[in-house]
Amino acid sequence: MTAINPVTDLARDGEIAVITLNSPPVNALSGQVRDGLAEAFRQAIADGTAKAIVLICAGKTFIAGADISEFGKPMTGTSLFDLEQIIENAPKPVVAAIHGTALGGGLEVALCAHYRVAVPSAKCGLPEVNIGLLPGAGGTQRLPRIVGVEAALDMVTSGKHVNAKKCLETGLIDTLAPEDGLRATAIEFAKTVVAENRPLKKVRENNAKVEAARGKPEIFAEFRKTNARKFRGFLAPEYNIRCIEAAVNLPFDDGLKAERKMFMELMTGPQSAAQRYVFFAERQVWKLPDIADDTPEIPVKKVGVIGAGTMGGGIAMNFLNAGIAVTIVETSEEALTRGLAIIRRNYENTARKGRMTMADVEKRMGLLTGTLDMNALADCDLVIEAVFERMDIKKEVFGKLDAIVKQGAILASNTSYLNVDEIAASTKRPEYVLGLHFFSPANVMRLLEVVRGAKTAKPVIATAMKTAKRIGKIAALVGVCHGFVGNRMLAQRQREANKLVLEGAMPWDVDRVLYDFGLPMGPFAMSDLAGLDIGWVKEKTSSSTLREILCEMDRRGQKTGAGFYDYDENRKATPSPVTEKIITEFRAKQGITPRKISDEEILERCIYPMINEGAKILEEGKAIRASDIDIVWINGYGWPVYRGGPMYYGDSIGLDKVLAKMRAWHASMGADFKPAALLEKLVAEGKTFRDLK
Ligand code: 3HC
Ligand code: NAI
Repeated sequence: MTAINPVTDLARDGEIAVITLNSPPVNALSGQVRDGLAEAFRQAIADGTAKAIVLICAGKTFIAGADISEFGKPMTGTSLFDLEQIIENAPKPVVAAIHGTALGGGLEVALCAHYRVAVPSAKCGLPEVNIGLLPGAGGTQRLPRIVGVEAALDMVTSGKHVNAKKCLETGLIDTLAPEDGLRATAIEFAKTVVAENRPLKKVRENNAKVEAARGKPEIFAEFRKTNARKFRGFLAPEYNIRCIEAAVNLPFDDGLKAERKMFMELMTGPQSAAQRYVFFAERQVWKLPDIADDTPEIPVKKVGVIGAGTMGGGIAMNFLNAGIAVTIVETSEEALTRGLAIIRRNYENTARKGRMTMADVEKRMGLLTGTLDMNALADCDLVIEAVFERMDIKKEVFGKLDAIVKQGAILASNTSYLNVDEIAASTKRPEYVLGLHFFSPANVMRLLEVVRGAKTAKPVIATAMKTAKRIGKIAALVGVCHGFVGNRMLAQRQREANKLVLEGAMPWDVDRVLYDFGLPMGPFAMSDLAGLDIGWVKEKTSSSTLREILCEMDRRGQKTGAGFYDYDENRKATPSPVTEKIITEFRAKQGITPRKISDEEILERCIYPMINEGAKILEEGKAIRASDIDIVWINGYGWPVYRGGPMYYGDSIGLDKVLAKMRAWHASMGADFKPAALLEKLVAEGKTFRDLK
């Protein structure tokens, strides 16, 4: 065996040269890896006694792509393009042996091999779109030449990982190997290719499938139309589509040039920079500075949920989906029956859409037990409370739970705002109590805020984070404060949105600006969706806010057909003349003379106070890092990924700009705008949130 460089080995198995790449964790194509591979291929090609070459990877995966951490830095070593040329133009067969995931540049390298062998568990994909890019090493030109234009469009714009069986069907791989026999099978396959003198298949020469789509622009027009909503605001999906168009309409080398140009444009643009930041932020968020990776975990085999309402039902579904048994407790037969029926209906709807079988539905429902008796939770490992948002009720529930549930089990609250330490104090095991704040709909939204109480024990936090991963969530560890991270910042936006309407904007102006910024909806559309009557009490209402007036008129949001907006039978919203009149009269009554408010002011007034609040959250230690706050906003509130989250956005527009506005508003409008000390400090030092360690 010859060590080519620290990460690449060249060995021989009879007449087959075997190049093994070993660059943990994911064999990403760093400069050193590209150099190592290029040199290994050169040697294997030069060795006249080697009749074919197998490329295989050590560790958990085949090459998972270019090394993203090198992006934006000066390039070193062999270019990926040159490496691919060496492989594709090799005068002897090259076989790629794939396990784990062949992603991005990894799949692009494999596409330059003449043949591909994979184990059944392997997956292939071009996920560059997820980091605001396109496959920049020939992927957009080679992939459609194998799988066809429609499948290629789907793969490059979704970034999905396609399983080996499907890859075999589309021709992306040539043969399957047994799970534990990849190396041997790939070598045998290479020997057969040599023995049968099979051709050196170059994907670039395969034109039939792209030619079949030539002169059919409707394929692309239709694809764009179908996905317009999904792609809204993102640049990369459109550029990926254009590259596939280039594959169809241009000779291969010209297509490559077009791909290169668009790749560079995306790579140097702000969207990909933000999306790459999010890629690393999503991984960083799991790392807890004071909790070691080997902190003992509390096994979670059975979960209890209290309350089968909006949140309880969704929370239960997460665990059922992961194969974990759930017992759900309600106070009345009626509420229980309704809650269980909603869970079943949700699953059946999924089955109707073909995303699950009826057997899957029954399997999940079989893991679910409904009861009115809290004693049934005695043997649960984790109990999550999702009853009404009232401290007295929560305390009573936790007091009872403490007496019933076995020692060593975790008791969690899904509270949105209440003090988790106060809830914990109603038990004799505060170290086993924490907040698990799911977002609505709880079975859909990826975010989980894990709220660490003053006394929460480390194994309890470690278990919460690992359990979150098990049920497919992205978890951010946050501290106890009103609204934790997400809702605390949301309150800033909501306050300013309301004030802007009093000052002269209409709700739909505010919503439009935030929607155009990239959020899924603005604050008023969101209020209408959630229901304006949350927290509204008919007996106590006094027309003191716009919301109260709307509720008094039975305009309580989408569910009553009217709120800030009017809704038709399909729940399509239109700006309401009724609301407009209410607002005009309300302003007059308050003695406010409305002024014209620019879109720029709406955006800044809604977002800068959020960034400022984020800085306060950091300075109080309620979030570990600025990037964790961004993860909360992306996954809990639909903040556009291509803007990287509010804290990243603050950094990218300049914290000095944010501070200047906060200071000016503080002077003219008062305490709501008091600049955070951390914001002042960072600006004074010329630093950003990303510089914080
Ligand atoms: N470059 C650099 N580091 C990478 C990486 C990459 N392409 N892919 C993963 N890593 C790092 C992660 O940051 C993480 O580092 P950490 O341990 O320090 O936090 C470590 O590898 C393990 O990653 P995960 O925690 O994500 O491990 P999983 O086992 O959950 O997932 C994976 C493995 C499916 C390979 C996942 O990491 C992944 O999807 N990676 C990104 C794949 C990708 O986007 N490839 C395309 C890159 S762009 C490209 O190729 C451009 C080309 O067209 C020119
Ligand atoms: P909900 O009103 O839909 O459901 C609460 C359920 O709890 C009801 O079915 C009620 O019968 C039941 N319940 C009340 N007391 C009980 C008791 N002692 N034992 C058993 N069941 C009891 O309320 P929702 O929206 O599900 O909220 C629950 C909690 O989740 C609240 O703390 C809320 O702040 C929080 N939350 C709500 C979100 C939302 O968007 N709705 C989002 C995130 C958190």
